[in-house]
Amino acid sequence: MCGIVGYIGPKEKKEILLDGLQELEYRGYDSAGIAIVEEGALHHFKAVGKLENLRRKTENFTSSGFGTAIGHTRWATHGKPTELNAHPHLGKFSYVVHNGIIENYQALKRELQEEGIDFLSQTDTETIVHLFEKYYTETQDAFEAFRKTVEKLEGAYATLLITEVAPDTIFFAKNGSPMLIGFDGDDIYFASSDTAVIGKAKEVYYLEDGEYGYAKSGKVHLFDANGEKEFTCKPLPADKLSAQKEGYRFFMEKEIYEQSEVVGDAMLGRVQDESIYFEELSEGFFDGIEAIKICACGTSYHAALTASYLFERIAKIRCEVEIASEFRYKEPLLSSDTLFVTISQSGETADTLEALKMAKRAGLKSLTVCNVDNSSIVRESDTAILTRAGIEKGVASTKAFATQTMALWMLVLYIGEKRGTIDKETLCREIDAMRHVPKALKVTDTLHARIHRLSKRYLHGHGFFFIGRDIFYPLALEGALKLKEISYLHAEGYPAGEMKHGPIALADSELFTIALMPKTMHYEKIKSNVEELSARDATICAISPLPFELADDFIPTTFDTHPMVEFFEMMVITQLLAMEIAIRLGNDVDMPRNLAKSVTVE
Ligand code: AGP
Repeated sequence: MCGIVGYIGPKEKKEILLDGLQELEYRGYDSAGIAIVEEGALHHFKAVGKLENLRRKTENFTSSGFGTAIGHTRWATHGKPTELNAHPHLGKFSYVVHNGIIENYQALKRELQEEGIDFLSQTDTETIVHLFEKYYTETQDAFEAFRKTVEKLEGAYATLLITEVAPDTIFFAKNGSPMLIGFDGDDIYFASSDTAVIGKAKEVYYLEDGEYGYAKSGKVHLFDANGEKEFTCKPLPADKLSAQKEGYRFFMEKEIYEQSEVVGDAMLGRVQDESIYFEELSEGFFDGIEAIKICACGTSYHAALTASYLFERIAKIRCEVEIASEFRYKEPLLSSDTLFVTISQSGETADTLEALKMAKRAGLKSLTVCNVDNSSIVRESDTAILTRAGIEKGVASTKAFATQTMALWMLVLYIGEKRGTIDKETLCREIDAMRHVPKALKVTDTLHARIHRLSKRYLHGHGFFFIGRDIFYPLALEGALKLKEISYLHAEGYPAGEMKHGPIALADSELFTIALMPKTMHYEKIKSNVEELSARDATICAISPLPFELADDFIPTTFDTHPMVEFFEMMVITQLLAMEIAIRLGNDVDMPRNLAKSVTVE
């Protein structure tokens, strides 16, 4: 989730930009840059790593007089975190910053290159500035050139553009990624989150998707598909931390609500009409691979376990899953036809990193599914598929798990297509189901209110069982882990069919069973497992698209046509349930006791 700031006015611009970017650090980044146009001159600075590096580069620069300015912190999605890939991106006489993913950038880039335009970076963003300059050359009208540019973009973007040919104007456009405009008299600010303009702007307008326009001489001209439009500003919140949470009580809550958006980001440019495309994977990457071994910890291990069912069922490739801390010391038998896959949100988990090094010493090809580019595990792997979840501040992982699972599901289809083990009809059915997932992840007020109400009944008891079958077994493990992590109540994830082999001895009214009962995966079997528990007076909370009369609590789901869509919808419910119980218990949801966001020790 990149950070964007912009300013047009007579104030000193460097400090406005750097202070604004500083307030956006919480969004996570791996490089940063600023660009300023004033008195006809273009200035720009970029640096990899922390903002401090950019401050050092600009320490002898100050701006003066009226001008325009843009700044950016980049979270790499296309292209490594390098100075060349850092924003702002330069054309011949213009600069652009962008947050989001231009889904059709390869086609646009090819067209521009065929017209002789050279690209410096590997990013999708650079396409924007070259398109603008191409249209400006044709029309000699900066706003018309910007409008035509925006018209060509597909995907998610929040973008600012400044140019020598219109030194008193900032152009902006928003679709799918957040951006706001701040006002303080004739000073106009832009930012991807209001934390960057608190203390500067007095009121803000939050741009809607499909809106674009320009700011000039203290006035903003706003447009949408129907032409120029009026807009109304709101007063700006005063507290920075609450602004970073953007109105949510905890970062974990915000990140649960973000899942619909970030899973959409994870799919952008990869899920195509009838195939899956990973620009990170070379054509022959899977040549000679006959098996997959996935290694991870915690929540990432649960994503791995989920994917193992899909790799074997859909891609018809053997798949084993290992807990990294076990794998490291078991003297595993490894063969070179096995692809070693690691999964890690942080990319710094010591056990997973050491397991990867073991596999590499044994000569295995490696791939990681990771959320942090340039992390140790990414650097150690032959290649990386970035999950694009943006920074995850809640220690209890949510959106990272959702994007890991989506990335792995895409990888399953990609490998199945490469191996010829998935027919077109199946592939299209899976892709169609994928496209429903962002909607299935949307949290409705009704659902959240229902979970808040019923959570009051689950604050005691002698423990929880989360039970499920097939891919809902790893989801049961994950739901139990979420609850343990933030409520400190004991919970176990268990294969539903295993309860009769011992654990059912625990069944009584103080044993809470969260039963995942999807319509599309062994419903009758899970139903009978739950009936066995209910017959022994266990308290049942059923999560299902089908009514279940024996449930003491029932949370209805709506998507019932594909197991993976049911999986994602039920995942949100288990996350919200854990969070609402923890909140009632007065726990620190974002920073639970004894836990760290990244376990870099053994
Ligand atoms: C998840 O909620 C936990 N915080 C923890 O289990 C985590 O998933 C595990 O430590 C692995 O971390 P990683 O994904 O960064 O490798």
